[in-house]
Amino acid sequence: MSRKKPDELRSARWFAPDDLRSFGHRSRMLQMGYDYADWEGKPVIAIINTWSDLNQCHVHFKQRVEDVKRGVLQAGGLPVELPALSLSESAVKPTTMLYRNMLAMETEEQIRCHPVDGVVLMGGCDKTTPGLIMGAVSAGLPAIFMPAGPMLRGNWRGKTLGSGSDGWKHWDERRAGIVTEAQWREMEKGIARSYGHCMTMGTASTMTAIAEALGLTLPGASSIPAADANHHRMAAECGRRIVEMVWEDLVPSRILTAEAFDNANTVAMALGCSTNAIIHMIAMARRAGISLGLDDLDRKSRVIPVIANVRPVGDTYLMEDFFYAGGLPALMKELGDRLNLDCLTVNGRPLGENIAGAENFNRDVIRPLTDPVYHEGSLAVLRGNLAPDGAVIKPAACDPRFHEHEGPAYVFDSYPALKEKLDDESWDIPPDAVLVLRNAGPQGGPGMPEWGMIPMPKALLKKGHRDMVRLSDARMSGTSYGACILHVAPEAFVGGPLALLRNGDRVRLSVSKRRLDMLIDDDELARRRAAWTPPAPRYERGYGWMYSRHILQADKGCDFDFLETGFGAPVDEPVI
Ligand code: FES
Ligand code: MG
Repeated sequence: MSRKKPDELRSARWFAPDDLRSFGHRSRMLQMGYDYADWEGKPVIAIINTWSDLNQCHVHFKQRVEDVKRGVLQAGGLPVELPALSLSESAVKPTTMLYRNMLAMETEEQIRCHPVDGVVLMGGCDKTTPGLIMGAVSAGLPAIFMPAGPMLRGNWRGKTLGSGSDGWKHWDERRAGIVTEAQWREMEKGIARSYGHCMTMGTASTMTAIAEALGLTLPGASSIPAADANHHRMAAECGRRIVEMVWEDLVPSRILTAEAFDNANTVAMALGCSTNAIIHMIAMARRAGISLGLDDLDRKSRVIPVIANVRPVGDTYLMEDFFYAGGLPALMKELGDRLNLDCLTVNGRPLGENIAGAENFNRDVIRPLTDPVYHEGSLAVLRGNLAPDGAVIKPAACDPRFHEHEGPAYVFDSYPALKEKLDDESWDIPPDAVLVLRNAGPQGGPGMPEWGMIPMPKALLKKGHRDMVRLSDARMSGTSYGACILHVAPEAFVGGPLALLRNGDRVRLSVSKRRLDMLIDDDELARRRAAWTPPAPRYERGYGWMYSRHILQADKGCDFDFLETGFGAPVDEPVI
């Protein structure tokens, strides 16, 4: 393999020439206390750190970055930390999804504008993983992803608590009067016991696993709990490895092939992935210039069963158990030749070689293909007159009697209006109702908030009902469950057919036929369409204004149109 020479380093364009510009660059490095030996002939490694005082999932990054730097130095590189937008899934409102593309833009431009040769991406909390990867793909320099790692299992009175999922579950019980306020407080203290991202198979665990399946992390990296000493060592190894990747010119485009995305798709289904992963996978693929759409995901879902017995699709285990069972390499070993084993990964070896020695230490946590948690994959893509461009449901996470369902629509145009009604104990809503929330999509939400797992109406909870069909153009948390139809495209706010649905209309769902329809004839729909008026714009200025003009619909990954690979000519390297 040909290796880059020191004078071919990108950073040398800033530091090496004998001219006035480079005099400025060098004198300013010296100002910071660096000496010539720190950078001459050495790869400069950007560490994009998504730490903040308000990001619970990345709180260890402030120290963990020192492990990465140690690795970079050991391998003969110069580490430089570049902080980036830290998207805390719990703190950022109205939703982190509004800002995923902002992080992607920041990542791309930070890499492009600085004198750096390679990148370590530190992320993990939901949107940070796709945001960082999308940006790094577009920037095109060698990049390695360092996953934050899941937090430790939650614990309450000796019972395991899972992020998100158990909060939802016990909240329904609290609203039904089963859980007391004191117990609720105890759970609050027990559900998130360490730094690290959510430890259910939510969006964070799904997305970091997808990063690993794509070949963008070191083998096994995504499953290591944040609080485990293995995580420090993995971080340092990321630092050592990225320096070598620069010499090898191992850029993302050599890793992110159609086969690599096919692997990510396979692994996502086998994990019982978060529905959010669909949007992010499509967006990342489109950045890499690979065609991946909802139908590819649905096709995969039909042939790959869920084999990770991790909540919320599984009923018992969490990411810590998954790690002890052998982690993602063990799961990929079970998938065997369903994966493209020749795909190159960041350690310079093919995936097949990386997982050859993997072992499954607990076949109840990581099931063999012959004894899956769920016979099909995690997702089903529905189409019909309510969702011409698709909608998504997670059949494995809902009561199977709802897989084929017909019922009357109860329609809400805003989340506050819906929320108020949900607590009305005298609400006369039948259990076969289809509860609809619209204007909650990419433009309408705005940012497609995680409102799609609409809480059960109190009136139905009191009667013992725990699930019902819910329908929206929103997303839902990856830790959610229930008969929730999500991501309806096009969304109501831009005039998708969901905007035309009225109270009492019959809605029919068929998971087996992959259909979602309102039983209204075409003439009536045409009349309603003619009468429809678009809502007032959400933003008149600022980032939201730009967002509203450029955001793509869910089936296309919700990227900005101008960030997509096919948009315009490639951006030149900066003039120095
Ligand atoms: Fe960060 Fe769930 S809040 S991953
Ligand atoms: Mg989440």
